[in-house]
Order: sequence, then C-alpha cells, then structure tokens
Amino acid sequence: MVCPHMRSPRNNARATGPLRLRNDVKRSGNRDPSPGPLGRWSVRPFRNSLSGIDPDGRYRRELGAMTPKIARFLAEQAPATPCLVVDVDRVEARYQSLRAALPLARIYYAVKANPAPAILRRLVSLGSAFDAASWEEIRLCLAAGAAGADISFGNTVKKASAIAQAHQAGVTMFAFDSIEELEKLARHAPGSRVYCRLIVENEGAEWPLSRKFGTTLDSARDLMLRARDMGLDPYGLSFHVGSQQTSTDAYEAAIARVGMLFTDLAAAGLNLRMVNLGGGFPIRYREDVPEIDRFAVAISHAMTEHFGNDLPEMIVEPGRFIVGDAGVVSSEVVLVTRRGQQDGPRWVYLDIGRFGGLAETEGESIRYGIRTPHDGSPAGRVAIAGPTCDGADIMYEKAPYALPLDLACGDRIELLSTGAYVSTYCSTSFNGFAPLTEHYI
Ligand SMILES: Cc1ncc(COP(=O)(O)O)c(C=O)c1O
Repeated sequence: MVCPHMRSPRNNARATGPLRLRNDVKRSGNRDPSPGPLGRWSVRPFRNSLSGIDPDGRYRRELGAMTPKIARFLAEQAPATPCLVVDVDRVEARYQSLRAALPLARIYYAVKANPAPAILRRLVSLGSAFDAASWEEIRLCLAAGAAGADISFGNTVKKASAIAQAHQAGVTMFAFDSIEELEKLARHAPGSRVYCRLIVENEGAEWPLSRKFGTTLDSARDLMLRARDMGLDPYGLSFHVGSQQTSTDAYEAAIARVGMLFTDLAAAGLNLRMVNLGGGFPIRYREDVPEIDRFAVAISHAMTEHFGNDLPEMIVEPGRFIVGDAGVVSSEVVLVTRRGQQDGPRWVYLDIGRFGGLAETEGESIRYGIRTPHDGSPAGRVAIAGPTCDGADIMYEKAPYALPLDLACGDRIELLSTGAYVSTYCSTSFNGFAPLTEHYI
C-alpha cells in the first residue's frame, strides 16, 4: 500500500494532507508563468481552430508540413507513389524547439515513430538519446552511432533474449510494469537502472495508450522496493499521457501521481532520481493544438509544485512531435465515384490506405490534412479509402472531409504531417501492394 501518512521530505506543500491526488493539479494552461527552478516560460495563446473548407465552399489549402524542400523535391523528382518524403532539417528544427522549451529535460527520441537511419543519424549528431521498443530498434540506434548508455529500453514487454542483447550492448536503463518483467531484468540485465511505468489518465489524447501499459501507485511502490531487493537500481518512474495529447492537464495530473510516489518511497528509504514524462506532445493536423511552450509551462509548474527545488532528472520521449510534421505522403488518386445516391459523398480511393501505412486513421483518430492540385476551387464532401479489397480499408467516412470537385483519377495529392507512425505501420504486401517508398532529404 502507498502509505497515506507519508510526507515529502522535500516539499512542504505536500505535507498538508494525505497522499491523495490534489484537485488543484487539474488547473488548465493559460496562466502566468512564475519563476522556479525551471525558469520563466513564454506562453502563446491558442490559435482558432480551422476547418477544411471556407465559408464559400472552397477547399482551403492546409497549413504546415509542406516544407519548401519537400515541395521542391516532389515538383522536380515526381517520385513514384505512394511515397513518404521527410525533410530531415525539419526534424532537427523540431528537436531544437523542444530542447529550447524544456531545457532541463533530456530528449529520448521514440524510435518507433520513425526509425529511418537518416533521422537517427541526425539526432545522434544533435546529442539526442533514444527510447527503443525492441532489440531491433536498439540495433538501429547503435548503427546510427548512439552509445548504449544513451538508449532506454522503454517497452515494458520484452523478450528475455532482447534484454540480454541490450545489456550486452551497453544499454543500462529499462522500463517495466510487472513483477514478471522485473524478474527477467534481474536475470538478464543485472544491476541495471530500472523505472516503473504508472497508469495515468489518457483523456485528451487522440491516440490513447492507456489500458495496455502501466501499473497502479500501490503496485509500483511494491515493485520498486522489490527491484532494490533483486539487485537492480530502482531509478525512477514513467508515464505516457497518450499520443497526440492535446491537454496540458494530463501532464500535470500525472506528475502529481509521480510526486506522491517519490515521497512515499523516500520515506521507505528509496530515493528515486528520475521522472520519465513520456511522449504525447501533439502536432497540428487539421486543427490547432497548444504550442509546445504551453506544455513546457504546465510541466514546469507541476514539477516545481511537487518536487520543489529538489528536481529529479527529467526525461521526455517524443516521437510524433519530432518527426510528424517533417513528412509528407505523396499519393495518386485511383478512383473518384459516387456510391448509389447522388446526394451521398463522393468516394475518393487513393493508392495508400490503412494497410499502406495510414493505420492511425483507425477510428478516424488522426485526421491528416490533404493538399490537391485543385485547392481553392469549389469542393464537396468526400469519403476517403485505400486501394485494397478489405472493407476496413477506409480512412475517413464520418470526419468532415471535403475535396475539390475537379479531383480526378490520376491526380497526385499530398497527405500532410505523415512523418510519424506511417512508414513502419505499412504492411509488406497486402493485396500485392508494395510498401510505400521513403525519401529522406
Ligand atoms: C513508451 C513510449 N514512449 C514514447 C512514445 C512516443 O509517443 P509520441 O509519439 O506520442 O510522442 C510512445 C508511443 O507509443 C511510447 O509507447
């Protein structure tokens, strides 16, 4: 049990009540930043949300993602479709902007978002560390020049053989959320730094991860004490507030939970040293999201509130934020038709779909911006589907998508902000379609 009477040795604010989640951590973003150990942060206001269509029914060009370099590449090379084009300079710019926003946190790029060697090499050159989900991802990081000590094996479900390989390769930090995984770590990576993943609310996330991972505060407390007894180094705690998290509240509430457990374990004689804030930072698809500075402010306030001046090491594991809007998918329109009723939407079939890499359109969760050669001309409602014979290969049927009425078979269109979670979700050859090609420029 997490003991309700334990008090923080570091933060008197926490010594005023039992170890419950405080209501006041659920304050929302737009407040004045105050100086603390994390410094002063600039706060930018939300921009208004945009829909895909102008009031006069014309399709509006989507903003973002199309960097001049990608636009030039597509115009000059006209690469075969479907393909993903990623501007690696844009990846660097995003890394730098996160570093500037959260200077005290070390960035562990979540390799799963896009493991392309060109991206990993660039991030290595910038001093990034890496969050890997498998031995294969660790191998890619090492091949790109990363040191084992700069890689966190962040999956809480690992093969014993993968743990042993990682340990041998010099990886010293591992995630877990169960006793069984801890036993594997003690056996195959003895003495390693381990951190326990907590279950936290994923409300506000457009791609939630909640139910599959993490454990409760009580169980995490027991597991961290067990880790010490097993000869491991109980290093810290982690959480993930869900991907494409649009609410800063989620981080504040999660940090409050972590703070409680730090306090409780300190009272039990265990001094944790690290908080892993996970990923989740959102990017703009078709709607505005809070700027990264807003998240930085919220995190800074919550950390100061719950840890005072005795801040632990902070880690973030961004994936989508670093690579998402650095990539564009170029695709060909295969068919435009109406299905039966004249007043129904037109159906637009592309040469890429759910099985070609757009898996995050599941439940229409991630809604990519789309550019066409006819933008600015009159538009009408569409459903958008992929090229395979599978009935599930529909990207958008309910989401309000409108595309130009002139759109026709053979047109090339661009799906924007597709740099994250596309290339690796692509099936190898479902219905005979080859995986999309990738260009890193
Ligand atoms: C453990 C872990 N860390 C980081 C990430 C990256 O999340 P995001 O792309 O939302 O930043 C994920 C995504 O699934 C994850 O599982």
